[in-house]
Amino acid sequence: MTEVRLIDIFNHPITQKYLRRSGVHHAVSVTENAFQIAKERRVNAELATKAALLHDIGHYEWYRDGKWDYKEYRKHDIHAIKGAERAHKLLIRIGENRVVAKEISIAILLHTDSYLPFKAEELRTPLQRVVFEADEMDELPGGEHHNHKMSKQEADRRLSKIDQQLEKSRRPLEPS
Ligand SMILES: [Fe+2]
Repeated sequence: MTEVRLIDIFNHPITQKYLRRSGVHHAVSVTENAFQIAKERRVNAELATKAALLHDIGHYEWYRDGKWDYKEYRKHDIHAIKGAERAHKLLIRIGENRVVAKEISIAILLHTDSYLPFKAEELRTPLQRVVFEADEMDELPGGEHHNHKMSKQEADRRLSKIDQQLEKSRRPLEPS
C-alpha cells in the first residue's frame, strides 16, 4: 500500500482550495505543534499531524463586504463537521488506510468546542487532545491566526521535514 505523506495531502487541489480560506500558515504551524506534542506523549504522530494539517479545511468564506465578519462566522460555524467529512473523503481518495482516515476524521470533528452545545474536554482521546491543544497553541483573538501568510515553498519545506522525521521513526533500526 502506498504511504500517504503530509506533502501529498497538502499538495492535493482540494487541500489547496480549502486552506486558502483558513490559512496555510495556521495549518503548518498546528501540524508542527501536533508533531512535538505527539512525540512527547507517545501518541501516534502520523495521525496527529495529518489531522492537524486538515483540521480547518471545513471553513467556509467568512467575508462580508470584503471584511471578515467574525461574529457572523461564530454564529453559523460548523467547520469541524464539514472538515471531518471533507478530510475523510480526501484521504480515502488519495489511498489512505480506512481505519486511519476514520481516526483522523474524528480528531478533526472534535478539534474544537466552539460549535458544540457541550464541552468535549473530558471525552477526548489522547490523539484528539493533541490536535485540540496544537490548534489552541496557535490561536489568536478574533481569528487573527487565519490571516498570517506562508508561501507554498516554505510550507512544502516545513511539511517535508516532518514527513522525513515520521519516515525515520517508521523505519526499523539498522542492525549495528
Ligand atoms: Fe484551527
